[in-house]
Amino acid sequence: MRSWPTKTLALGGDYNPEQWPRPVWDEDIELMRRANVSFVSLGIFSWSWLEPAKGEYEFEWLDTILDKLHAGGIAVDLATATATPPPWLSAAHPEILPVDVDGHTLWPGSRQTWCPTSPVFREYAVALTRQLATRYHEHPAVAMWHVSNEYACHNLPCYCDECARHFRTWLQRRYPGLEALNDAWGTAFWSQRYTDWGQILPPRRSTTFNNPTHVLDYKRFSSDALLDHMRAERAVLDELSPGVPVTTNFMTLDHFRHLDYSQWTPTVDVVSTDHYLVDTLEHPRAELAYSGDLTRGLAGGAPWMLMEHSTSAVNWQPTNHAKDFGQTIRDALAHVARGADTIGWFQWRQSRAGSEKFHSALVPHAGADSARFREVEELGRIAGRLGELVGSRVESRVAILHDYQAIWAAEGPCMPSSELDALTAAQAIHRALHDRGVTADVVHPSADLTAYALVVVPQLYLVTDEHAAAVAAAAEAGAEVLVTYFSGISDENDHVRLGGYPGAFRDLLGVRVEEFFPLGPDETVALADGTGTWWSEDVTALPGTDVLTTYAAGPLTGRPAVTRRAGTDGAGSAWYVSTLPDDTALGALLDDVLSAAGVEPTVAGLPRGVETTRRRSDEGSWLFLLNHTDAEHTVAATGYDLVADAPVDGSVRLAPGGVAVLRED
Ligand code: GLA
Ligand code: ZN
Repeated sequence: MRSWPTKTLALGGDYNPEQWPRPVWDEDIELMRRANVSFVSLGIFSWSWLEPAKGEYEFEWLDTILDKLHAGGIAVDLATATATPPPWLSAAHPEILPVDVDGHTLWPGSRQTWCPTSPVFREYAVALTRQLATRYHEHPAVAMWHVSNEYACHNLPCYCDECARHFRTWLQRRYPGLEALNDAWGTAFWSQRYTDWGQILPPRRSTTFNNPTHVLDYKRFSSDALLDHMRAERAVLDELSPGVPVTTNFMTLDHFRHLDYSQWTPTVDVVSTDHYLVDTLEHPRAELAYSGDLTRGLAGGAPWMLMEHSTSAVNWQPTNHAKDFGQTIRDALAHVARGADTIGWFQWRQSRAGSEKFHSALVPHAGADSARFREVEELGRIAGRLGELVGSRVESRVAILHDYQAIWAAEGPCMPSSELDALTAAQAIHRALHDRGVTADVVHPSADLTAYALVVVPQLYLVTDEHAAAVAAAAEAGAEVLVTYFSGISDENDHVRLGGYPGAFRDLLGVRVEEFFPLGPDETVALADGTGTWWSEDVTALPGTDVLTTYAAGPLTGRPAVTRRAGTDGAGSAWYVSTLPDDTALGALLDDVLSAAGVEPTVAGLPRGVETTRRRSDEGSWLFLLNHTDAEHTVAATGYDLVADAPVDGSVRLAPGGVAVLRED
């Protein structure tokens, strides 16, 4: 894999010079240098400024700013500028507009107003990419290509007739014939048998619940359709600009689940992602950590690029809270702690006009004479010292499985609980590990699991035979395996595995479940050693399986809640947790599992709210300590703190909100 060509910890962000008069450009470059900004993403929403009419191009402004940036020593991640079509294109070709589940056209006037399968849109997008690649492939400022932007942020799924046609073709490739499709979709149910491909439509709004496998296949198709679009743009770049790495910014945030990125990573040279803290979440920082660990998992453990985050407020939440002073630095380093080697923001200069004029930026409305910009400059100085850790990898001996297709299936219509989020168990366990100073890789089930000491299988509702076998093989190879409720229930077509839940993991775990007893958001169930939430079920422990905890109230009183089947001949144990225990009980369970796995925390005994990870390379190791609390904490450590630029001998003092990155002796 080609890598983003940087030897330093690069800082930068989206740059939209077309929003500003030219004298501002020179000031921008001067300020970028002051803040140690070494890259910008340019041209993401510039289509109408580059091609104001069909086949008529205005490149002078881009030539000029590219030259200026290059003269200023700033590398450019140059967009193909195809994220949003110009008004002339949708006026001439309204058929490129996306259509929602009710058949309503989504009109131009915002952004990303294009249908993923539109051949007309594709033709114009590829043509613009060709123009840009031809003109700029040798420009010395161009260090990377940025294809489109945040695929699927607003235009998926599209339910138009063109998508219906492409969906049928996609299905014809997936299934050998209509009979196979009817089998896979279970169309014997509700008289849905198809006798001609032409009868198949996108899962548009119907009278009641759509067929779940139909819906699942439409999600698979939609992700593939956009990937196909990216490949079409990428093919042009490969032809005209070989050697320049290509990326597109993923969105590995909790609330974005439209694309199966595990299928996308082969098409990017550098895994990049965007992340925004969501204030309304119960645990926004834990979500940031999960997202970072997921992005690293997608990158196969290699360093990745944070393309966008915010210096302070965003513009799209109900209340757009400003960040505390100090948090701009801490949040940026929180991503570095999880393997990012490049830190980008949206955006360089806060807009005066448009929907994002109240979104924070590196240079705020107040200008460079502001506390926020001074904080950015301080981060620039810190980043200058962190170059030595670029290329190092985050240490982790724990894998948490994450599969977008399993999430899609679990989010399908008519499940045992529509209130249970598909990531509840994954995030709760990730957070509990994180609170114990244990770092986890969040990986797809197809990753190599054999090197991990502990593999967590959280709510992996849909699982293929192959992935279930990989989990069993990891246990066989010695890993402890922890499986939660509502895993292994259905197969690739979302058909329930019969004979007792959790079908795919029944043998591994030595349990058999006859019935689910899901709990509502306000319900709990007493356990012998705590409280269960979200879920419970009627578990039978098979001979040879130990019962660790039982239900202590309700219809399941006395029945197993947590079990363990000891491995033989060097195999790890298989642990099953049939409910989500409260934090204390879950923590105690994890302590036992971690000790069986021989996994130690990065730093033992840290106070809650102090986050820690370690990055390591052949050149050394670096310990990250991030204090997210309002209190001062002292942590035993020795080395050289690259944030404070001072040696640490025995203990490091973390101010409230403070960060230390220690080069360890
Ligand atoms: C996304 C987009 C940016 C901008 C930010 C605002 O990440 O890629 O163009 O809209 O959101 O948070
Ligand atoms: Zn469409």
